[in-house]
Amino acid sequence: MNNQTFTQKYYIDRSKADSVKWQRARKTKSLPMWIADMDFKDDERVIEALKEFIDKGDFGYGNLPQDYYKVFIDYHLQRNHVEYKSEWIRFTKGAVDAMYQVIYALTNEDDGILITTPLYPPFKATIKESGRKLYESKMIHQDGYFTFDYKDIERKFKNGKVKMMMLCSPHNPLGRVYKQGELQELFELCLKYDVLVCADEVHGDIIMPDQQFIPALSFKKYRKNIVSIVAASKTFSLAVFSHCHVIIPNQKLMKKFISYQRHMHTGSVNVFNALPTYYNYLYGNEWLDALNNVVFENYEYFRKELSPYFEMTVLEGTYLLFLNLGDLAKEKTAYEIMLNECSILTNAGESFDPAYAGWVRINLATSLDNVKKAVRNIKKLLKD
Ligand SMILES: Cc1ncc(COP(=O)(O)O)c(C=O)c1O
Repeated sequence: MNNQTFTQKYYIDRSKADSVKWQRARKTKSLPMWIADMDFKDDERVIEALKEFIDKGDFGYGNLPQDYYKVFIDYHLQRNHVEYKSEWIRFTKGAVDAMYQVIYALTNEDDGILITTPLYPPFKATIKESGRKLYESKMIHQDGYFTFDYKDIERKFKNGKVKMMMLCSPHNPLGRVYKQGELQELFELCLKYDVLVCADEVHGDIIMPDQQFIPALSFKKYRKNIVSIVAASKTFSLAVFSHCHVIIPNQKLMKKFISYQRHMHTGSVNVFNALPTYYNYLYGNEWLDALNNVVFENYEYFRKELSPYFEMTVLEGTYLLFLNLGDLAKEKTAYEIMLNECSILTNAGESFDPAYAGWVRINLATSLDNVKKAVRNIKKLLKD
């Protein structure tokens, strides 16, 4: 399926919808390129399968489809070359819910938890709100390409207070798909200092051509020390269904996690909410390949038009681009400039790290027409 066909078939006009993204755009009379969801609808086979479920009208207590785990495992094996086992999987009502549960179940109050910044804000919030101690390591970057500062991370591990590292892979908002060597060096450090890794991999299927996503649990050596958060919610834009998996190969950690979930009366799966994940893992591969091409085309267009003037991230994965307005954002933040002078709603750079008020995060999971409109509006800034 070429990009034009995909857009014709799946782009949805959400301008009048009860959509968080578009409602705020209506209020601010702007083009919404904020929040991480897409302006594309799901594959028609998935929609049909959901309609069939509804049409039967059987809404009594139900079980997951019998082959739910097999479908989940096969999908991740084929797509991402990682072999999960059904007994490693637990359910939560979303990825942020999963972060909280992992923190509460597997760390203690006052334990240190390290993140690398800039980063999707809920990471910081979950650590602070759960009474854990936040450790931040700033990522180093050149020409929009961000990497870990291993020396700084090791310095922070050395005091023995950091018990967990929360990893965002692929990275929101930096668009990184980490290489084998980068992850290996990080996991080696975590093992050396007995730091548990919690890897949020919800962007793991939105991968640009020539990139390969490497799931944390594909490293057998570090498996006992890793817990992964995996969902289809970003991949197929299923936020409304709130369904997510926590994957824990280490039996001791799994016992602790289950005990926490029992204590909190949570962890039972909402079968209806699990169905879109199941059907997308069954039928969604072609749709997803086409989506990734559309995002890449949008990115290439954006980069070609604007990289002569602005620094921006190298998009390896996710549909989220981090853009630096540089000198233009001195008196006003980049977010304010984008909204007030370009009529584009973005996510403010400072929400990912206070040092990034000159940057914004831009969501490219929309039509090329919308991206062209955004580029035109941004180019006006240059003229003025
Ligand atoms: C890395 C990451 N984790 C978690 C979430 C939120 O997921 P959920 O809506 O399932 O809580 C997002 C949403 O953008 C995200 O980018």
